[in-house]
Amino acid sequence: MRSARKVLAVVVIGTVVAGAGLLAQVKAGDAAHGTRQYDQYKKPKFCGTSCHTDFYRQWRQEMHSQAYVHHWDEIEYFKLAVPHAEKDPAVAGVRDGCNGCHAPVSFLAGDTPPPRPEENSRANEAVTCDLCHTITGFESDTPHNFNYYSEPGNVKYGPRGGVTSPEHVIEVSKFLPSAEFCGTCHNEKSPYGVWVKSTHLEWKEGPYAAEGVPCHDCHMPRAEGRRASMGKAYPDIRQHLFHGAHDNGKIRGTVELRIHPDIDETEPGEKVVFTVVLFNQKAGHKFPTGSVEDRIVWLHVEATDAQGKVYHLPVDPKGFEGEEYTIARDVLAYQDMGIALNDPGFQGVQRDGVPVGDRIFRMPYFDPQGRMTIQQWNTKSLGVDYRIPPRGTRVETFSFSLPFEVAPGRMTVEATLNYSKLVKPVAELLEVPPDETETVVVNEHSTVINVFD
Ligand code: HEC
Ligand code: HEC
Ligand code: HEC
Ligand code: HEC
Repeated sequence: MRSARKVLAVVVIGTVVAGAGLLAQVKAGDAAHGTRQYDQYKKPKFCGTSCHTDFYRQWRQEMHSQAYVHHWDEIEYFKLAVPHAEKDPAVAGVRDGCNGCHAPVSFLAGDTPPPRPEENSRANEAVTCDLCHTITGFESDTPHNFNYYSEPGNVKYGPRGGVTSPEHVIEVSKFLPSAEFCGTCHNEKSPYGVWVKSTHLEWKEGPYAAEGVPCHDCHMPRAEGRRASMGKAYPDIRQHLFHGAHDNGKIRGTVELRIHPDIDETEPGEKVVFTVVLFNQKAGHKFPTGSVEDRIVWLHVEATDAQGKVYHLPVDPKGFEGEEYTIARDVLAYQDMGIALNDPGFQGVQRDGVPVGDRIFRMPYFDPQGRMTIQQWNTKSLGVDYRIPPRGTRVETFSFSLPFEVAPGRMTVEATLNYSKLVKPVAELLEVPPDETETVVVNEHSTVINVFD
């Protein structure tokens, strides 16, 4: 028993050392551009047609398979990022770099910018089975900006061994089950050195990392199933769901909220203060996370009197620095899109596109001129981080001086937390299809007060 363990230890150490030796020659991040060829990577259809049929069907429906062809990705890359990169040397690297995460095999093959999605090239495969399952580690100490090591070949890495596939060798990877694996693409630094995507870093400093709950537990839940259609059944197969912002069910319920008044009964002319408590009970990172420059989460509060007349309640300002970006206003922003759109005098579009006075849970991104931007690659600084941390709670108040014409009787006050994947005025300008700006209700709650004559 003892000696067997010793042998095992030697074998394990041997593998690690050999792996590290190999890694020394493998390039990562920007340096990996053009170091591989397309035919070194199997097509997802090949993996999915006869063996991994369930995983393939799941992957077809999730965003990793859409990361290059999805309409908003195509629009942002070809209408904004590529033209911007060609005009501004400071951001020239994104012409290739966007693909390191969105069309990684094209990036590794040096085929950038890849052909447009309608040309149906291999770029359309986006983030594939063979790309993820041949990643062996990452360079430096923080995973970000596609600094993964891609080592395509006959060895496929997965969470467990024990079975040999007729198609390929299976090796156990400790890296794939780690959050750092996801972080190689889910953390991003702009060319100005600013963290413009930090889902893994947010997770790392939050409660879930401390409890050993990786990304996979929420985005690849374990369930009964088979690794391959002919293989044996396991009770705990990682489902390839990767549901996130594009799954309304995932968004719904992320934050729970409750609203209460400071008094139950009042009369016209008096002031009532409503307090809303919002608790991020479901996300393992901040909400919103990822493409924070695009996403918008806003709290809308409305009172309805006994005769059905509706009053919109603006949030009470708290007075912290940068708060003006967290309360909806009637102002223009995003002027830096004018660079790519060949319109140097571009005035911008509405910043928020949601009712003025609503609280917005966001972190604004600023371009080198200090203007708010949705172009994360053109981000030189960040504003106040007023998102809701994992298991964090925020409290907002709404002071309402009841107008004299308010109807006596029951007054209902409803708080609704809304979410949209992309600020609407930006989507309208760039002609992004409406499903990207659809309003999803995250949660709602209401309370009642009595109004006397
Ligand atoms: C090779 C890069 C890469 C790796 C590795 C990677 N992702 Fe992604 N992921 C992406 C890209 C790019 C998208 C964006 C797709 C799009 O364009 O909307 C994405 C999208 C997602 C989404 C969907 C977001 C939405 O908007 O609905 C989830 C969830 C997700 N990834 C989770 C994970 C998890 C968990 C891991 C680790 C197990 C992981 N990813 C590893 C690149 C990667
Ligand atoms: C974004 C990266 C990513 C993509 C794309 C991806 N996988 Fe996976 N896959 C993973 C990770 C991570 C695990 C292991 C997670 C764990 O066990 O913690 C995994 C696990 C597996 C397993 C083993 C499951 C188990 O529980 O033993 C198989 C088989 C597999 N994937 C096949 C595929 C196939 C086939 C495709 C394409 C249709 C695919 N994967 C696409 C990341 C990916
Ligand atoms: C405790 C469960 C949980 C954990 C752990 C978790 N997530 Fe999430 N994730 C969610 C929920 C819920 C959402 C939907 C709400 C949102 O967008 O934050 C989400 C959303 C996302 C999105 C979509 C964001 C967007 O706007 O496109 C991505 C990408 C993502 N998660 C990646 C990750 C990665 C990477 C990790 C690990 C570093 C991780 N998640 C850990 C629950 C979790
Ligand atoms: C370090 C990896 C990485 C790089 C580099 C990167 N992205 Fe992404 N991108 C992601 C991930 C991961 C997501 C999806 C999840 C999220 O929102 O975090 C995403 C989401 C997006 C979305 C939103 C998709 C949607 O439907 O909501 C767009 C658009 C996009 N990226 C365009 C670009 C462009 C253009 C570039 C180059 C300037 C770029 N990305 C560079 C990883 C990357």
